[in-house]
Amino acid sequence: MLCPADHDITEFVLCGLSFLEHSMASGSSNGVLRPLLLGILVLGVFVTVFLMYFKPDKSWFCPVESVSEHVKNLISTKSDKNATIVLIWLWSLGSKFDFSVCSSLFEIDNCFITADRNLYSKSHGVIINHRDISGDLSNLPQLQRPSFQKWIWMNFESPTHSSKLSGIQKLFNLTLNYRQDANIGVPSGTIVPAEGEENFVPPSKNKLVCWIVSNWNPQHDRVKYFNELQKHVKVHAYGRAFEKYISDNDLIPTITSCKFYLSFENSVHKDYITEKLFNPLSVGTVPVVLGPTRQNYENFIQGDAFIHVDDFSSPKDLADYLLLLDKNEEMYLRYFEWRRHFKARKVQFPVEHACLTCDYLRRHKEYKEFNDLDKWFWGS
Ligand SMILES: *[C@@H]1O[C@H](CO)[C@@H](O)[C@H](O)[C@H]1NC(C)=O
Ligand SMILES: *[C@@H]1O[C@H](CO)[C@@H](O)[C@H](O)[C@H]1NC(C)=O
Repeated sequence: MLCPADHDITEFVLCGLSFLEHSMASGSSNGVLRPLLLGILVLGVFVTVFLMYFKPDKSWFCPVESVSEHVKNLISTKSDKNATIVLIWLWSLGSKFDFSVCSSLFEIDNCFITADRNLYSKSHGVIINHRDISGDLSNLPQLQRPSFQKWIWMNFESPTHSSKLSGIQKLFNLTLNYRQDANIGVPSGTIVPAEGEENFVPPSKNKLVCWIVSNWNPQHDRVKYFNELQKHVKVHAYGRAFEKYISDNDLIPTITSCKFYLSFENSVHKDYITEKLFNPLSVGTVPVVLGPTRQNYENFIQGDAFIHVDDFSSPKDLADYLLLLDKNEEMYLRYFEWRRHFKARKVQFPVEHACLTCDYLRRHKEYKEFNDLDKWFWGS
């Protein structure tokens, strides 16, 4: 609960600002309190400047501990000398997390994940999300890269939906990607053993086939397939394109209420299998997939846990099959046989990615460069 005692003016201001933010967020501010707090902050800055010239050996009260100070404290203790720091440089993903998250959630110890750029020169890894890099690269770290530091290129969009950038070809040391051949390959979900044998019963359903689409593009394979499919079976379609917008809170209940869900990827690439598959799998709805080959899917999940559009010679054949399963409960339930021993677990985006990166860095301390980003990801 103390502001830095070494009178670092920026840390003091940040500390004061976080207090302001904190009190506003907690709703304690009103028309009177806000200017008062600002006043206190300005006064605090004056006091700090004053103290820079008259150094007392006492700390000054501040209600919120500054982030970098917290980490300094943690890594100055003996056991944490061993800690690995992962800095998330571009974080448009909107998450905040506490420092113990890797050990509490994933049993990965000695990792500190931070978005505090003051820790740049101490960070072992710097994660940079491709989507957030500006075209002129001006928002990348400008300071000299410490010799022990690795830059990690993160991207979870497919090549079709990622733009190539010039100048980043030889910038990175590691890849963090959905692809299995990435240095840190993280799929959208995994199949894990269930606690004990379970006779899984899917939740009750009131719709046969559903689809939620956020990015409607008539050129996409999935839209062409859908247009044919819906001529032969009713598809409950949601999303802006259908003027039936689904909020985040309604997403999972909607998927749960359908016997089948169209897990149609926005583009077809090896290993590009998203939460569109793992959402239905985890709630007890049968995914009908359109994406990479069946064989590729079977690298991630059981072959009898899903229906692939390639299993049918036409959308009409698929529609006939879904209508058949609607009448035959026993055949439908076969798609849940795998649930007897397993269940689907969704990866926690993005915090799990940061923790897995830290884990990788701890196990691979050797020098590494990666000089062929365009060829590796876009194929040319
Ligand atoms: C430091 O971390 C490594 C790798 O995780 C571990 O093997 C080693 O025992 C740790 N050392 C200390 C002093 O905690
Ligand atoms: C990371 O890659 C850069 C660019 O290739 C290289 O200069 C640097 O030495 C590498 N660092 C490590 C720790 O491997």
